[in-house]
Amino acid sequence: MKGLVLSGGKGTRLYPITYTSAKQLVPVANKPVLFRVIEAIVEAGIMEIGVVVGDTAEEIENAVGDGSRWGARITYIPQEAPLGLAHAVKISQDFLGDERFVMFLGDNVIESGISSLVRQFQDSDYNCQIVLTHVPHPEQYGVAELEDGRIVRLVEKPRQPKSNLALVGIYMFDHHVFEAVNAITPSWRGELEITDAIQYLVDKGYKVYPYVHEGWWIDTGAPGDMLDANRLVLDEIVHRIEGYVDRDSRVSGKVTIEKGAKIINSVIRGPAIIGQETRIVNSYVGPFTSIYHHVSIEGSEIEHSIVLEHSRIIDIDQRIENSLIGRNVEITRSPLKPKAHKMTLGDNSRLGIVCNG
Ligand code: TTP
Repeated sequence: MKGLVLSGGKGTRLYPITYTSAKQLVPVANKPVLFRVIEAIVEAGIMEIGVVVGDTAEEIENAVGDGSRWGARITYIPQEAPLGLAHAVKISQDFLGDERFVMFLGDNVIESGISSLVRQFQDSDYNCQIVLTHVPHPEQYGVAELEDGRIVRLVEKPRQPKSNLALVGIYMFDHHVFEAVNAITPSWRGELEITDAIQYLVDKGYKVYPYVHEGWWIDTGAPGDMLDANRLVLDEIVHRIEGYVDRDSRVSGKVTIEKGAKIINSVIRGPAIIGQETRIVNSYVGPFTSIYHHVSIEGSEIEHSIVLEHSRIIDIDQRIENSLIGRNVEITRSPLKPKAHKMTLGDNSRLGIVCNG
């Protein structure tokens, strides 16, 4: 089998982070989501992987390379514009050839990998198998309707859902999918929809089956989802201290402190991860927080947040919570009068300020 990872797209819901960088490279528990996707595919025994890339192609290629670090071979497939998931399949036909393949959205994180579902599809005579999961609010998702164990209909955000089984961003196909993606036409939003391609397969009598995933799954499209994924992945990290923790600091719970990090007179309460060469001084880092490499946090408190590389948080007396802080961000106390908030924020930034009284 081959793997196809979709890593193009616009990432509008993650603005302003995605103005300057690919959303698939935002780290969750200090590892880019895209690396987690590639590792899951390799773990399932698939070494031949195509990565569909768009505007952020260069950044993704620089970060991922040729795949040799995972023992995989990666082929980049440029998509001229984000014209839909089925369009991404269409332009990958030369790479995929006649092989069965698993398609995985490059911004999704799934518990306990994909080995068992890949194995099930490999051993079956199905033409297509779709990963589904039970969700509490199916009206917000693409929903599958089943009959006699087969998928008979897919409905995007149904007003009255007939099941609570939502499509997860993982799909498996054989070469018949090319007949489908070449036959369908763009939807009202101008995209070739993968749900239309699958519905085509169903309508033509191909064997389309579900795989119901029982663990958690997160589509990291929006900042809140990123924090949820971070929380779930941090819950599984190992306690590992490779950096320096001074005698005046306290580290409790499951905490990873990476090489070159320094914790001085601070409290770290896990699950949390502190990246390479990061300095935490006179501060508190609380549960479900990932601080990436080369960050400085001094005289501040933070929890349930993600901070990306080279950012600085200095002497902020209100605790920072539920925040996604990008690269090279500076949050400091201003000594200058008049006493006022002074900010330089990118377009679509979101800032919650605590007001006294
Ligand atoms: P989406 O999250 O549906 O789209 P997006 O990345 O454009 O995000 P937003 O809605 O915030 O603007 O895409 C899911 C994944 O598939 C994501 O990793 C991007 C990728 N993708 C492509 O590679 N090509 C495409 O044509 C589309 C639509 C998405």
